[in-house]
Amino acid sequence: MTSKGRLLVNDSSIEEGNKMFIFYVLLPIFFLFSNGYCERTKEKIYVEIKSGGRSPCFRRLNGTHQIGCTSDPKGNVGVVYYVNNTQSDLDWLLNEGPHKPYAVLLNPKDFHMKTVKRLLDSGKVNGIMVIQVPDKEHKYPPAEAFSPDQSCPNQGYGLYSGDATYGDCSKNQWNSVGEGLMFQDIGIPIFVLKEESDVDFIIEKCYKKFNAPSVSGVAREYPLCAVQLKDRMDGAKDSETCTRRTNHQMNLNPDRYCDPLGDQNVYATVKDVTKDMRREEKSVIVVAARMDSFSMFEDNYPSADNHVSGIVALLAVSEAIGKVKDKIRDSNTTKDVMFTFFQGEAFDYIGSGRMVYDMEHNEFPPSDNLQKINLKHISHFVEVNQLAYRDDGKIWIHTDPLSRPKIPEVEYMVTGLKDIDPSLIDEVDKDQPLPPASAQSFLKKTQLPTVVITDHRKEYTNKFYNSRLDLASNIKASCPDKTNLTECYDTVSKQASNLTPVANLLAKFLYTLATGDNSTDNVTVDVNTVQHLLFCYLISPNCELFKQSLDKGKADQLADEPYQFYVGVNTQTNNYTALTKQMLLVYLGDHVENATKDTCKGGEWVQGPLNENGTRTNGYCVRGNANLSKAVSKAFEIDDYDFKSRQYSTWAESSWQFNAMNVRVFLIPSKKFETVTLSVGVIMLLVSMVIVYFINSRVEVLFAGARRDYRTIDTNNDNGML
Ligand SMILES: *[C@@H]1O[C@H](CO)[C@@H](O)[C@H](O)[C@H]1NC(C)=O
Ligand SMILES: *[C@@H]1O[C@H](CO)[C@@H](O)[C@H](O)[C@H]1NC(C)=O
Repeated sequence: MTSKGRLLVNDSSIEEGNKMFIFYVLLPIFFLFSNGYCERTKEKIYVEIKSGGRSPCFRRLNGTHQIGCTSDPKGNVGVVYYVNNTQSDLDWLLNEGPHKPYAVLLNPKDFHMKTVKRLLDSGKVNGIMVIQVPDKEHKYPPAEAFSPDQSCPNQGYGLYSGDATYGDCSKNQWNSVGEGLMFQDIGIPIFVLKEESDVDFIIEKCYKKFNAPSVSGVAREYPLCAVQLKDRMDGAKDSETCTRRTNHQMNLNPDRYCDPLGDQNVYATVKDVTKDMRREEKSVIVVAARMDSFSMFEDNYPSADNHVSGIVALLAVSEAIGKVKDKIRDSNTTKDVMFTFFQGEAFDYIGSGRMVYDMEHNEFPPSDNLQKINLKHISHFVEVNQLAYRDDGKIWIHTDPLSRPKIPEVEYMVTGLKDIDPSLIDEVDKDQPLPPASAQSFLKKTQLPTVVITDHRKEYTNKFYNSRLDLASNIKASCPDKTNLTECYDTVSKQASNLTPVANLLAKFLYTLATGDNSTDNVTVDVNTVQHLLFCYLISPNCELFKQSLDKGKADQLADEPYQFYVGVNTQTNNYTALTKQMLLVYLGDHVENATKDTCKGGEWVQGPLNENGTRTNGYCVRGNANLSKAVSKAFEIDDYDFKSRQYSTWAESSWQFNAMNVRVFLIPSKKFETVTLSVGVIMLLVSMVIVYFINSRVEVLFAGARRDYRTIDTNNDNGML
């Protein structure tokens, strides 16, 4: 600037004035500005938490409400505050913290309704982060109970809804630790943070360095470390509104606001009753488990007790029954057994509600080649629920007190079960209603002899029902080091030895129920199957049992991490749904002799097991009646369905854009700094205007020597050089 000035200036008096101007006005401003700027750059942090390290709470909607989380379109920005010492830190934040809005970082044990409500009600908090790093320091997983579900799950859609005696869980609060946090319209973003390095960074480099108040509780001054939590949801209000908005669009590239929750149910019959054959009334035993659970956070559905324990037990039963299936098939007097896995049950019984509808309307099974199964064809209903933690060392038979007095067959079932092993199974108080169960969807429509078998006598023994904490490690089936399979199987075997006798008992019971034959010595569940299945569902789907039940192409795509146990939206089939169907096919289907891959008509080609030298043969053709049927609520398919009627589940999931999620940490400068920056800018502007005016008014003097030339070059802009 100075050298340039000197070149331009050739009048000595002006040169003097100009020098003074530069030294006394421009330079200090320049330094002030650049100094502040350097300061800011030095301290500037700007870190983005990678998508693998975070998982958001998102919005879901039913016929009347929206629940869950969302953020402003550009994300919510809050000053980071770490609540380590629950009581005193919260008190400081809510009573003293002067820098609202805050984004609060919580230890795993503090994420509860009470705390969240307090934070929301304060009006000082616009985002929450929850630590989920498996270590001792942050106490994850917390030992205490946590369930975001209701204390009376699915209550509005069950058999006892509105019943004066049994409604509202008045006899028994099944999920007494359930806080219902999942069903709150939280309205601010909440993320769990899963990477230790991210959590350390936020605590050490961001919170402690810039924000933590002094020991005596004095708040820090700017600059402060802030986080932007972006979790923008497109759907709003309720599922009726957002599906209508989604459906009523005319343009070719429609926006989606929400999608109905849904997937597929899995079922398989032992008998092959084709269209031209007859199904007798009361000739099918339905044996069921549920496929799904939920949690508040995306991709965070460990679901160990609820419901993997049930799925695994039932699949092991299907293997045992499959080995004696000919005894069931080869007679007209035996009953068929239909293994069924319902999807979407955690959301007001989506799957079972749909199957009941389809049966009532003669649309089940969907295949045109098979004889339909109507409600009147069902003879018994046996459901397994959570099975991993035994209450009093036993498992428990639950029955429906409304229908039991009218159906003598229920006594027969209960006695039959107890007779097999009285030390393992017992029945609960007869006057106690059924726990939340798919059977309730059926009993709403028809009186069926029904038993529901669970690991709890009264309230759930699972203290983490439908939460991010229903972990495999809680049911002693986790695997700290997946590269050491020996060790893994060893850990899993503890739960396997808990589940196997239960599955064994069930297999024998079903065999007798179907055939009337009491000699069940050759009906046995294999403990290795149970162990292996636990591994496949809880630790790694890339397991030998899944591999041998698929063709090579699909087997090669199996993931190492568990798939999701959340029903998800109805646009694609969940991996575990497909894999469970495949297991049923292999366990109950027939090995078609002499078939090749090309001649395997109406069947499926699967790889089969490894042989002794660790290689596989070409595979084999398996044919059976394992299949999928819709698990999508009729609420979204019936025109003019009344979304408030509570007949069918109305749950939908909000859509979000591909860039709707983000967590980034950065420094915000003080208000003072911002004011100074602004003032400097304003001063600079004024000063340059003065300079321009000054130069302009003296242009004759300043450019005396060159004037003529400039004129000829540019007549319009005399001060173009500056
Ligand atoms: C929707 O969910 C809310 C929150 O749990 C509940 O209060 C309401 O009754 C539900 N509405 C319907 C139609 O199920
Ligand atoms: C696997 O774990 C077992 C039991 O903890 C241990 O004895 C064994 O040495 C481990 N094997 C390998 C290869 O690390």
